[in-house]
Amino acid sequence: MYNFEYYTPTFIEFGKKSEEKVAQLIKAQNGKKVLIHYGGHSAKKSGLIDKIEKLLTEENIPYVELGGVVPNPRLSLVYKGIELAKKENVDFILAVGGGSVIDSAKAIGYGIANEGDVWDFYAQKRVTDKCAPIGVVLTIAAAGSEMSNSSVITNDETGLKRSYHTEISRPRFAIMNPEFTMTLPEYQTACGCTDIMMHTMERYFTAGETMELTDKIAESVMQIVLKNAPILLEEPDNYEARAEVMWAGSLSHNGLTGCGIKNKDFATHMLEHELGGVYDVAHGAGLAALWCSWARYVYKANINRWLQYASNVWGLDIDFEHPEKTIETAIDMQEQYYASIGMPIGLKELGVK
Ligand code: NZQ
Ligand code: ZN
Repeated sequence: MYNFEYYTPTFIEFGKKSEEKVAQLIKAQNGKKVLIHYGGHSAKKSGLIDKIEKLLTEENIPYVELGGVVPNPRLSLVYKGIELAKKENVDFILAVGGGSVIDSAKAIGYGIANEGDVWDFYAQKRVTDKCAPIGVVLTIAAAGSEMSNSSVITNDETGLKRSYHTEISRPRFAIMNPEFTMTLPEYQTACGCTDIMMHTMERYFTAGETMELTDKIAESVMQIVLKNAPILLEEPDNYEARAEVMWAGSLSHNGLTGCGIKNKDFATHMLEHELGGVYDVAHGAGLAALWCSWARYVYKANINRWLQYASNVWGLDIDFEHPEKTIETAIDMQEQYYASIGMPIGLKELGVK
């Protein structure tokens, strides 16, 4: 077992009507003026933004708002947000949306708390341990940014999509009402489920040290998502399935599935970030398109690990005379699964030449 650090400071308010606690949670963080940050239209259309604004008004919490975050969130909007937040003396950012909104909020948080160009952090030119506090109202189960230390921003001038990690950027709270995710288009639900599995798999497939307890948690996260994604495509209003996937999304990327694991990989993520920056593909779809090729390329580096995956995740009997056959069958099954939930399984399907 490899030494590890584990830090998850995010307060979780999970379940129906959890959004009604929003003002109370902001007050508990001493937020005096809030920037409500959101995406294109879904949170406006559902009435969630209006509801949050009403709850803040009732508790005399002043706010300004900035919408317009797009998937693969853009640096140009981050600059706008920093300017607005500084002008309005904002001291707390409430991200209402998914990974893109939360990541944009984290970048604005860095911009409020630090002088100079915020892109420097993403370009790895300098580091910081300062970020304005962030709260989250989550509307899509996918990126896990509601509990993660990471923010991924696309520089719209250069097409570079880059991440920056600090413990200080982990959200102070996350409100997670699975009902909010019922309006997701099928494609986004499937992209989200893929991303959740991938956050676990990127940690799981290592040639380094591991830990049995972490493996069991990781295999359960993978199986829960494998089971529930097809249910959600059939029954988008299934609360239990939405809840299982939503919580899996947070646990898959808050560090839990990486405890005691050496050499976490994340190669598929790094490749996807290049695709996202240049071709603006949905993150989960990019991961599905890349993963199976990556898997076939690397599995021989740790046959036992891949046999464990074939057996514990896919329930395959191991052919000890031809272990590679068992592994290739498991990878084929994962690939067919991605195709069955509408994900691309090759770059051409994504429109990438
Ligand atoms: O903009 P709106 O109209 O809200 O539409 C969004 C968007 O088009 C829509 N959506 C969200 N909630 C909805 C909804 N539509 C209907 N009903 C709802 N309840 O879904 C679309 C995708 O949203 P987005 O926030 O982009 O999705 P996701 O959470 O998958 O985030 C993807 C971004 O997160 C980054 C990815 O690279 C990508 O940029 N990641 C961030 C990570 C982190 N910070 O820890 C880790 C991940 O590996 C990932 O890299
Ligand atoms: Zn991801």
